Amino acid sequence: MHQKILDICKRRGIVYPSFEIYGGVSGFYDYGPIGARIKHNIEELIREYYIIDEGCWEVECPVISPAQVWIASGHIENFADMMTECLNCGEPYRADHLIEKHLNISCDGMSINQIHELIEKNDITCPKCSGKLDAVYDYNLMFETEIGPGKYKQTAYLRPETAQTTYLSFRRLWEISRRKLPIGVLQIGHSFRNEISPRQGMIRLREFSQAEIQFWVEPEHKEHERFDEVSDIEVKIITGENEEITTTLGEAVKRDIIKIQIIAYFLGKSIRLFGDMGINQEKLRLRQHTDEERAFYSADTWDIEFMSSNFGRIELVGISDRQDYDLSAHMKLSKQDMRVNYNGKKFIPHTIEVAYGIDRPIYCVLESCYRSDRTYFRFPKKIVPYLVGVFPLVRKDDLPKKAIEVFKALKKEKFYGFYDQTGSIGKRYARADEIGVPYSITVDYQSMEDDTVTIRNRDTKEQTRVKIDELVAYLRSST
Ligand code: GLY
Repeated sequence: MHQKILDICKRRGIVYPSFEIYGGVSGFYDYGPIGARIKHNIEELIREYYIIDEGCWEVECPVISPAQVWIASGHIENFADMMTECLNCGEPYRADHLIEKHLNISCDGMSINQIHELIEKNDITCPKCSGKLDAVYDYNLMFETEIGPGKYKQTAYLRPETAQTTYLSFRRLWEISRRKLPIGVLQIGHSFRNEISPRQGMIRLREFSQAEIQFWVEPEHKEHERFDEVSDIEVKIITGENEEITTTLGEAVKRDIIKIQIIAYFLGKSIRLFGDMGINQEKLRLRQHTDEERAFYSADTWDIEFMSSNFGRIELVGISDRQDYDLSAHMKLSKQDMRVNYNGKKFIPHTIEVAYGIDRPIYCVLESCYRSDRTYFRFPKKIVPYLVGVFPLVRKDDLPKKAIEVFKALKKEKFYGFYDQTGSIGKRYARADEIGVPYSITVDYQSMEDDTVTIRNRDTKEQTRVKIDELVAYLRSST
């Protein structure tokens, strides 16, 4: 199935590897004409959830930042993976991944020395040429660059997360929010990680999109007033012992499995959001990071993972209690006061972060919505690339002229649609289905007499006859 999905994605312009004419570079993907529309819609859905429903602000910050930002944040020191190279062919590997694959154990929390010893002791060699592997070392994942020329040149980095760039303007956002907590700030944009050896298509990219929301809260107020809205959601939780339990979010908080209520709230909200995107909710699991694997800035992190039939576990969102780690770090280096006076106390707000990848959920949408019986994507209407295709039944007797009039009327009403008169009507329906277009509108001979069209439903293939005058209202009521 995976190969079929990839074939459609390339052939129809959903996603495909970048730089193809130069042989490609792993870790980079293009969104084509259809994929870019879907991505846009998914980002809009996230905006609906967080800007409209949760009352967040949105910001957009540069992707390049001077070195001080990443010195303060700890990324220069800590944002690294363990790397080894083949001494014979030079192939680079993530050392922990090699061991995990060979010995079927987890390397979380192991030191460089431990990893190196395991490679030596178990005679692990290069999977490509069986050559000996070099010593293991820490490889920083940030892309380094420079800002400015000559003596004004300064070292800079492409951001490995959007979050950090949101933190930098905390003081300004505090003023803009009229000095009230909580404050929620969404940023959608590109981030960059120079992954050692990305081999999983669009699941592990070197340039990728994130939608990260930072909630600044009072340190002792990590509840959410709307928790009741999600407390009945049933979830599957992978425990430390790799067992799966099924419970509700309310119970999980009551039994102290999820210790921080606001984290449970955003886990529930995310499950709804993924469902609205079209991701199969049956395949979602919650998992708390172990002490060893948790990022250096976080005191508690929960992921939602999708059980993919092709890639295994895919992390879709990480929700972390970053406490005052980041604001304190920037206060220390920048000497700018990040403390607030609020409710009679002076303190540095704590950060609860909800960090969505965008590319991974899109892959999971594709895997969840794909229907192999008729080879098409059953996307929810909110994310479809186009809502309508408009077709003349045949290319004669003024049918195209009338169909173009219908198409123009829909464009005027700002519907995303396309016009197609090439090939048999059956082929045109199949082409529209394949990219998930929910409504195919056809002008036929009856249309010439009574000003009606047929609307074919992508999922049921049923056709309804509607007056052209009523088409806009019909489409609006069905979306
Ligand atoms: N900001 C958290 C992450 O990038 O995973």
